[in-house]
Amino acid sequence: MSPMNFDLFADAEPEQVPRREQIGEQSFVLRGFALPWLERLLPALETVLAAAPFRQMVTPGGFTMSAALSSCGTWGWTTDRNGYRYSRLDPHTQAPWPPMPEVFFALAQAAALDAGFADFVPDTCLINRYIPGAKMSLHQDKNEASYAAPIVSVSLGLPAMFLFGGFERNDKSQRVPLFHGDIVVWGGVDRLRYHGILPIKAGQHPRLGEQRINFTFRTSH
Ligand code: SIN
Ligand code: FE2
Repeated sequence: MSPMNFDLFADAEPEQVPRREQIGEQSFVLRGFALPWLERLLPALETVLAAAPFRQMVTPGGFTMSAALSSCGTWGWTTDRNGYRYSRLDPHTQAPWPPMPEVFFALAQAAALDAGFADFVPDTCLINRYIPGAKMSLHQDKNEASYAAPIVSVSLGLPAMFLFGGFERNDKSQRVPLFHGDIVVWGGVDRLRYHGILPIKAGQHPRLGEQRINFTFRTSH
């Protein structure tokens, strides 16, 4: 047998096994964690979006956000000229936000646990849609009543460059590439870290097309 017949990849990790990367004291990227959940997540997402479609919102400063937003759960995060807030009603439909699908909740809880946060009970899931060119400027998630719970952030579709900074806006940020199925969890001492998304590059994702979808789970109240 020629040496060429040896299986060069016999020792490589199978592609779908999640890998955990630590990016802060209590911050982790769970590679591919959402992939096994996808066939249940996407139909549930469609149901949510049918009731609460994506829309672009305006910041208190008067800028239209490049990402389009929706939410599900008891509370939804919104912004307009009057400020940022959590609201029980979708300002677009005037109806309560659609309930958080069980599969969303279960995935968020499983990811939090994997990152060392037991008993995560999210009451809101912000859904961000980025088309190429859309971005999210560096910010802290500070609209929650308590910072005891972590943030669980799921990436689907086109890849993105996630900026994971420090506790001051001007602190140096790590650049963390995020791919379809990756989940970032940060909490505890890292809960108030600045973070953002660089402009999404043009591309076509085989499953989701020309977009990136992000779910951000939080305990707001
Ligand atoms: C956010 O911080 O609201 C979104 C982050 C992301 O899209 O990954
Ligand atoms: Fe955020």
